[in-house]
Amino acid sequence: MAAGTHIEIDRARIKELIERETALLNERTEGSRAYYERARQSLVGGVASSYQLRDPWPIYLSHGKGAQVWDVDGNEYLDFHNGFGAMVQGHAHPAITKAVTERIELGTHFAAPTEDAIVVGEELTRRFGLPQWRYVNSGSEATMDAIRIARAATGRDTIVKIFGSYHGHHDYVMVSIGVEYDRIGDRFELESLPYGLGIPQAVADMTVPVPFNDAEAMERRIERLVEEGRPPACVIMEPAMMNLGVVLPEAGYLEAVREITRRHGMLLIFDEVKTGLCIAAGGAVERFGVQPDLVTLAKALGGGLPSGAIGGTAEAFELVEAGKVVQVGTYNGNPLSMAAARASLLEVLTPDAYAHLDALNDHLLAGCQMVIEKYSFPGYSVGLGSKGCVTFSPETITDYTSFKANQDAELCELAWLTNMNRGVFMTPGREEEWTLSVTHTFEDCNRFIQAFEEMADDLTA
Ligand SMILES: Cc1ncc(COP(=O)(O)O)c(C=O)c1O
Repeated sequence: MAAGTHIEIDRARIKELIERETALLNERTEGSRAYYERARQSLVGGVASSYQLRDPWPIYLSHGKGAQVWDVDGNEYLDFHNGFGAMVQGHAHPAITKAVTERIELGTHFAAPTEDAIVVGEELTRRFGLPQWRYVNSGSEATMDAIRIARAATGRDTIVKIFGSYHGHHDYVMVSIGVEYDRIGDRFELESLPYGLGIPQAVADMTVPVPFNDAEAMERRIERLVEEGRPPACVIMEPAMMNLGVVLPEAGYLEAVREITRRHGMLLIFDEVKTGLCIAAGGAVERFGVQPDLVTLAKALGGGLPSGAIGGTAEAFELVEAGKVVQVGTYNGNPLSMAAARASLLEVLTPDAYAHLDALNDHLLAGCQMVIEKYSFPGYSVGLGSKGCVTFSPETITDYTSFKANQDAELCELAWLTNMNRGVFMTPGREEEWTLSVTHTFEDCNRFIQAFEEMADDLTA
C-alpha cells in the first residue's frame, strides 16, 4: 500500500515526456493512422465501441498468439491489456482453438441447449458454490438480468450500487460513474447521476449509489430508503473494484455488506465480470469467502468468444424457473461460446494455471513496488490473481472519492505511452489494470517492470 515519503514529480517534465513518447508512438503506428482514416468513413469514430477510442488514432491489431499481440504496423507487444481482462487464457490457446474448430464443423447455433452448456454449468456450480445458472452474451446482459431477478424476488424497484463502479452499459447501472471530484458530494447522500446522455433521470433515480468500503454509509442509506417507502431490492457490487485500477475490500467489509443485505431482505449480487475466473477458480466468492445470492460472469468465461452467465441460489432463481421472470436471449448458451468455455474451464484454467498466475502477479507487483521505493515514487502496486496495477497516488485508494482526489492522470497517460513504445500493450485510459494470462512468463513481467523503471528514471533524471 501507499509508502510514506515520496518525491514531488516535476509536472513540466511529465508533459515533456508525454510529448516525446506521443511523437514516437505516432511515428511507429502510421499504419494504424491509415486504418483510422479509412475506418472513420463507416465506423463512428473509427471504432466498434467508444471504449476503443484513442486520440489521435486507435492502435489497430492484426493478430495475437499466447502473451503477444501485433499491430497493423507489425509492432509486437506483450499483452497486459488482454481484451479488458477477457483473455486470461492467452491468445489462440491450442485447447480453445481445437474445441472451437471442432464445434464449427458441427454447427454453430441452434438456440437449443447442447451438452457443453451443461458441462459449463456443472463446473461453475462447483467453482462458485451456487447451484443454478443461466447464460447470456455479455457482462451488461448478466448484470441487467441479475437485477431483474432481484427485483422480482423482492418485489422492490430501487437498487443500490457502489459509486464509481461500472457494471455495463444498460440504463439501470449507467449511474454515478466517471463523475468529476467536485460533483461527488456527501458520502451519505451520493446522487444518482446518469452516465452520458440518453439515460432517463427517472431510471437513474431508481439506482442509488453508496461509497465502496463503507458499510455504515451503505446501511444508513438503505435505512433512509426504507423510511422513504422505497426499500431496495439488491446491492450490486464488484467485491474488489476493478475499474479504478484495483481497489481491495477492507477487512470485514464484504461480510458486513452480506449481513446488512440479509437483514434488510435484499439480494446481494457480486458482479464478477472482471474478478470471476481471473482471481481464483471460484472468483471473489472463493477468494474472500463471502457468498452472495447472485453472481454475474462474462469476459474470461468465453475464452475470447462473447458470453456471460448468472449464477444464483435456488431461491433467487425460483421465479425464473417458474417462468415468471423472463430470462431469455437468442444466443444464450451459443454452442461455439460454450465449447470455448468448456475447454477454457476444464483444460486451461486449471489449479496449476491459477498457481502460475498468482506467482507471476506476486513477481510483477513486487518488481513494480521495488521501482516505486527505489525512486520514492508517489504510488503503490496492488493486485489480486491475474490482475494488478500501479496506482499513482500518494495515499491508498479505498473508494471513488479517494481515487478522484489522488490519482495522477498525467502519470497514467505517460505510463501508457512509455509501455506502448517499449512493447507492453496496455489499456488506454487511466482506470484499467493489467490482466496476466496463463501464457505469460516471469521474463514477460520483467519487461513490464523494466519499462516502468525507464519511466521512473526518465522522470527523475
Ligand atoms: C464489472 C463489470 N461488469 C460488467 C461489465 C460489462 O461487461 P460487457 O462489456 O461484456 O457488457 C464490465 C465491463 O467492463 C465490468 O467491468
